[in-house]
Amino acid sequence: MSKTVTITIDDKQISVTEGEKLLWAALENGIYIPHLCGVKEAERPEASCRLCFVEVEGMPNPVTSCTLSVKEGMVVRTRSPRVDRLVRTGFELLLSNHRLGCAKCAKNGKCALQKMAKERGLKLKLTRLRSLVKETPVDDSPQSFSFDPSRCVLCGQCVWVDRNKVKVGAIGFIKRGMDRKVSTFGEVKLAESRCTQCGECVKVCPVGALTASSEKESH
Ligand code: FES
Repeated sequence: MSKTVTITIDDKQISVTEGEKLLWAALENGIYIPHLCGVKEAERPEASCRLCFVEVEGMPNPVTSCTLSVKEGMVVRTRSPRVDRLVRTGFELLLSNHRLGCAKCAKNGKCALQKMAKERGLKLKLTRLRSLVKETPVDDSPQSFSFDPSRCVLCGQCVWVDRNKVKVGAIGFIKRGMDRKVSTFGEVKLAESRCTQCGECVKVCPVGALTASSEKESH
């Protein structure tokens, strides 16, 4: 039987299941921590977005909360100068690869980047880095949704669902470094791939990369 432990986050005591990852324990108790790549059901978190940092008493450096299991008596701070610096840098790096222009985006008002900016007082524009967004064509070959790679933040939510939930294996990460991207294998259009157009990937996309046809971008 699972054991309940008490932890403290930002001076608030909460009871959570021992061993649960801190990110989910916080979110389920109404405490916001920025995150993009975390999947609660994933056995091994990817921890690739590097946004969910917190400070934990007794640990010398900020840690990613999606990889940290809660323990009795843990004392956590979701904000500190070091955490804020890491989040600000990670956020701007994401923006440098993400086509901005919220007003025209289908996810305007529902986007995880907008929420992060609001919660943490971050600017939704580049201040230190230049944009590295490549003009890539939108794949609107599926009947009910489209994929805009220039709005993708490489969080991997769609890849996880495709591989582990619907078990189709139509998409994945391809290439490395600055060229890394989500794509069908063989870089064919979605309609020509193994994609069954079930739409599960659209439901988990936290930004305006995968959007249902019913919520198309306004131009
Ligand atoms: Fe923890 Fe992305 S949610 S690193």
